[in-house]
Order: sequence, then structure tokens, then C-alpha cells
Amino acid sequence: MTEIQPEIEIRNLHKAFGERKILQGVSVCVSRGSTLAVMGGSGTGKSVLLKHMVGLMAPDSGEVWVQGKRVDQLDRSSLNALRLRIGYLFQGGALFDSMTVEENLDFVLRRHSTRSHSERTEQIQEAIAWVNLPHAAAQYPAELSGGQKKRIALARAIILRPDILLCDEPTTGLDPVSVRTVSNLIMRLKAERGITTVAITHDLLCAEIIADQATFLYRGKALAEGTLDELRTGAHPQLREFFG
Ligand SMILES: Nc1ncnc2c1ncn2[C@@H]1O[C@H](COP(=O)(O)OP(=O)(O)OP(=O)(O)O)[C@@H](O)[C@H]1O
Ligand SMILES: [Mg+2]
Repeated sequence: MTEIQPEIEIRNLHKAFGERKILQGVSVCVSRGSTLAVMGGSGTGKSVLLKHMVGLMAPDSGEVWVQGKRVDQLDRSSLNALRLRIGYLFQGGALFDSMTVEENLDFVLRRHSTRSHSERTEQIQEAIAWVNLPHAAAQYPAELSGGQKKRIALARAIILRPDILLCDEPTTGLDPVSVRTVSNLIMRLKAERGITTVAITHDLLCAEIIADQATFLYRGKALAEGTLDELRTGAHPQLREFFG
């Protein structure tokens, strides 16, 4: 019998900054086309964990596997090639304020593809239509609402049609209507494009919409793993406090 390879697998990851041990043996497994929600209190290492998945941070020990490749041991050119398969939605959205929406998206296309100007324009139009902001091309990030900014950041994260989407707090600070909109977009990426997603979120509404599985980080370890309902009804005091 052939074993199905997970799209992302982290084995026994340890990471410290100086004396401060942040991750102390975290393991995570995400199968292709599924969505994992990573939850836990502030400062528990959720963003640090996500950064390891694209080689933005290297582990002190442990293994990081993505699409069958050992990320923490890849040479620069293989890592760059793998990164093209991964869209990353940063915690703050990270749009360039001095560029319009179109320029923000074009920046990625020009850097990572050899497409012509007209092909790029078409692709940008398609991406902003997909997040339902077809008229935002000429606007600057400062002219957009928080929810609109997140949608543009999402459009930028997926414009190269990645296999994997990593989202760091995709809905934090948004009103409930925008939370739903952004979460539904993330869910549609899975349904329509089979994208594998890891999303850090404290937002229960978002987690409810997108998560197939969830993991809860506490004191450097995955304290609990399972479906959101399993975590929610878990007996551990930390879970009870978090899910209230
Ligand atoms: N590059 C770094 N150098 C030193 N310390 C760092 C670095 N990156 C993160 N840390 C520390 O690691 C800890 C975990 O950070 P991380 O950003 O992963 O937290 P988080 O779980 O994402 O929290 P939040 O929910 O607030 O975003 C924090 O104490 C942070 O200060
Ligand atoms: Mg974080």
C-alpha cells in the first residue's frame, strides 16, 4: 500500500531565540487540500511556526517537509522554486502603501513571471474580481477599508496560483461581515482550487468557516489537535480559557 504523503509535515520542531525557548517539539501534519487552523495565545510561536514552512526561519532541531521536500535543508534555488508554490498572507497584510492595488499585484507578477504587460493586466483583473473588488485597481491601500485590504492581500498571495496558502491572522481586527467574506474566500480556494491552507487565527468565526483540523499551541507544544469541536469541548483548562 502506498502511503499518502502529507502536503506539509513538521516533525518535532524546536526553536529558541537566545534563552527563550519558543517551540519545544511541535509536530504538525496537513494533508493535501485540507485546512489547518493554528490557534493559541499571543506570543506562543504561531507566526514563528508558519515562517518555518517557507524557510523564513530555520529550526534549531526537527524537520520541515513541504511537498516531499525538506525545507530546512534546501539550497537557495530549490527553496525559491518551492516558495513560488506557496502564497503567504502576512499578519499585517504587508501591502506597499506607496503603490496602487494594481501595482502591488503587478510587483509580484513582474518579479516572479515572464508574462507580458497585457497578460499581467488580465491576471490582475481576474484576481481582484475574484476577491470581489474589481474597481479597486487604481486605489491606494490607504483608501481601502481593513477588510478590503485583507482581500487585496489575499489576491496578491494567490496571484501566482500557489498550491499552498499560509495565512497569518487573516481576519484579525475585521468586523463580522468582513470576517465572513475573507473566510469564505479562503474556503473557496480549497473547494475550487484544492489549495492546502494553514491559517493562524484567534477568530472562532473564521476557524469555524475554514478549518478541517485545528491545533492549539501552548508552552511550545501542540497541546491539543483535532477538529475545532474537539478542541472546543476539550477538558484542558487552557482550552477552556481560550474557547470560554
Ligand atoms: N526574529 C525573532 N527574534 C527574536 N525573538 C522572536 C523573533 N520572532 C519571534 N520572536 C519571539 O518569539 C515569540 C513568539 O512569537 P510569534 O510571533 O510566533 O508569536 P504569535 O504566537 O504569532 O503571537 P501573536 O498572536 O501575538 O501574533 C515572541 O515572544 C517573540 O517575541
Ligand atoms: Mg503572530
